Amino acid sequence: MKKAIYPGSFDPVTNGHVDMIVRSASIVDELVVGVLNNSAKNPLFSVEERVSMLEEITKDIPNVTVASFDGLLVDYMEQIGASLIIRGLRAVTDFEYELQIAQTNHRVSPAVETIFLTTNLKYSYLSSTIVKEVAAYGGDISHFVPEQFIERIYRKYNIVK
Ligand code: PNS
Repeated sequence: MKKAIYPGSFDPVTNGHVDMIVRSASIVDELVVGVLNNSAKNPLFSVEERVSMLEEITKDIPNVTVASFDGLLVDYMEQIGASLIIRGLRAVTDFEYELQIAQTNHRVSPAVETIFLTTNLKYSYLSSTIVKEVAAYGGDISHFVPEQFIERIYRKYNIVK
C-alpha cells in the first residue's frame, strides 16, 4: 500500500497542479494533497480556501484526500504514514531547488523518497505566481486555472469580470 503526498502551496491551484494530481493518483494507492500552511508567505488564499478549492477539484478521484500541514513535511508524513513525496519538474530551472529539498528530506528522514514527474508540456510554463501576476492586472487566466476558480481569483484583486 503506497501512500504518497503531493505537497505545495497551491496559491492558487493551477491546471498544472490538477494534471499532476490526476497522474500521481493513477500510480499510487493513496494520494494526499498536502497544502502548506504558510501564513508567513502572506498567501492570496487562506489555507482553508486552498484546501476547499483542492477538495472541490479532486472530489471525483477516490484515492485522493486533501489536508493542510505546517512544520516539516517529513514530520507530517510520519504522522499520516506516507513515505513518498511527489513533485513536478517543469524545466531545468526547477531542478536545483527540487534536488536540494529532495536530498534534505531524505537525509532528515531516510525512509522518505521523492518521485519527480515531468509536468505536462501544455503546462510547463505555468505557476501560481504567473497566475497571480496575470490576474492582478485583469488578464485572461482561463487557460491557467480550473474554470470554477477564475472568478474567485479575480475577486481577490477586486476585479469583477
Ligand atoms: O508549491 P511550493 O511552494 O513549491 O511547495 C514547497 C513545499 C511546500 C513542498 C516546501 O516548501 C515544503 O515542504 N515546506 C515545508 C517545510 C519543509 O519540510 N521543507 C523541506 C526541507 S528544506
